[in-house]
Amino acid sequence: MLILGVDTSCDDTSIATLKIKNQKSKIKDIEVLSSVVSSQEKLHAKYGGVWPAMAQREHEKNLVFVLEKALKEAKSIGQKENGNGKKITEKKQKTLSKILEREPLLKENLLKFLNKYQKPKIEAIAVTIGPGLEPCLWQGLNFAKALAFMWEIPIIPVNHLEGHLVSCFLQKTGKNFQFSIFNFQKKIWPAMGLIVSGGHTQLVLIKKIGDYKIIGQTLDDAAGECFDKTARILGLGYPGGPKIATLAAKATSLPTPNYQIPNNLPRPMMSSKNFDFSFSGLKTAVLYTWQKIPQKQKTSKMKTALAHEIQQAIIDVLLHKAIRAASTFKAKSFLLCGGVSANKELRKQFSEKLKAEKPSLGLLTAENGFFTDNGAMIALSGLCNLKKKQKFPFKNIRANGNLNI
Ligand code: KG4
Ligand code: ZN
Repeated sequence: MLILGVDTSCDDTSIATLKIKNQKSKIKDIEVLSSVVSSQEKLHAKYGGVWPAMAQREHEKNLVFVLEKALKEAKSIGQKENGNGKKITEKKQKTLSKILEREPLLKENLLKFLNKYQKPKIEAIAVTIGPGLEPCLWQGLNFAKALAFMWEIPIIPVNHLEGHLVSCFLQKTGKNFQFSIFNFQKKIWPAMGLIVSGGHTQLVLIKKIGDYKIIGQTLDDAAGECFDKTARILGLGYPGGPKIATLAAKATSLPTPNYQIPNNLPRPMMSSKNFDFSFSGLKTAVLYTWQKIPQKQKTSKMKTALAHEIQQAIIDVLLHKAIRAASTFKAKSFLLCGGVSANKELRKQFSEKLKAEKPSLGLLTAENGFFTDNGAMIALSGLCNLKKKQKFPFKNIRANGNLNI
């Protein structure tokens, strides 16, 4: 079975093709036939953050090209030859125009695509319906609705956050992947999940896939947002997470006097009894610290030292709360996911601390390439929800920017 996964929740246009080899078996061998991410990073870098209206337009422009690339990489597409393949009827065109009435460019690109290629062997389309930037979500959803209508296949609405959580179960075995949740079964539940992304920082108690309870979350900025905003203060560019991580990795090689910054940064809410987070105070502390440093001392070494301290402050808080949450709720495993989990140092310190303090707790993270937003995790979440799939009509599927897990 082939499932397409589509994500346009923020500034990446992502589409993946997943092949599920043994659909009926509990342990599913999965091949990620393709995972294409068209990043808008460069565009938004000029503005230091994502501008939703611009991101929406980019999705509208990119979606069909990303689809074509994903299907080509998956070797799952064939061109229509003369007389081969039905023409799109007027009736169908009318419905398509209705679905994409607000996306004229997307409609035009899609019609060209549908006229050029035969229907692939895709059996379902999983698409993110939230949370995220609502105008962007609608692009992906309407695109999926249009495709599902034309190909006459079901559409599976997916929660982006569940996508991040299940990305931890897509484990590499040789060239392929295995959806390995069924390997551990009872041994992993309940699991504690920490979703750390640009829009979310949440601790989620997971009794099983589909059974989630948020036990703590950020009261203001998300961890990724803190990376992005503090990087902007230091003039490092967007997205800030990878920029800070790269600089921070250089910090330990600095000679000691340069390695010092005026004050250690705060670790907000680290000792509060609940499981909530707050990162906006850390951002403000970085701003004040940076403003107090005399211009002459604002060297690249100073930036490096500060980047290291920012990263460590975020890691300290995340680690402390996450491990306490896992203990309190007697979790048997830990899922660390979301764009910020791309941070090597975070994963390293997480793994070391767990080994030292909770050796029985297995740590699961995504594989390289699947930390930040991608279509594979959406397809995977779609696979988990396949029973709940919605067939025609799918008019009532709506995007919701504030969707909860
Ligand atoms: O999950 P994601 O791709 O999108 C959202 O759902 O928000 O996460 C994006 C976030 C951004 O804030 C980005 O700065 C952060 O993940 N990020 C990182 C790293 N790579 C991406 N943060 C810290 N270290 C990294 N290496
Ligand atoms: Zn995400």
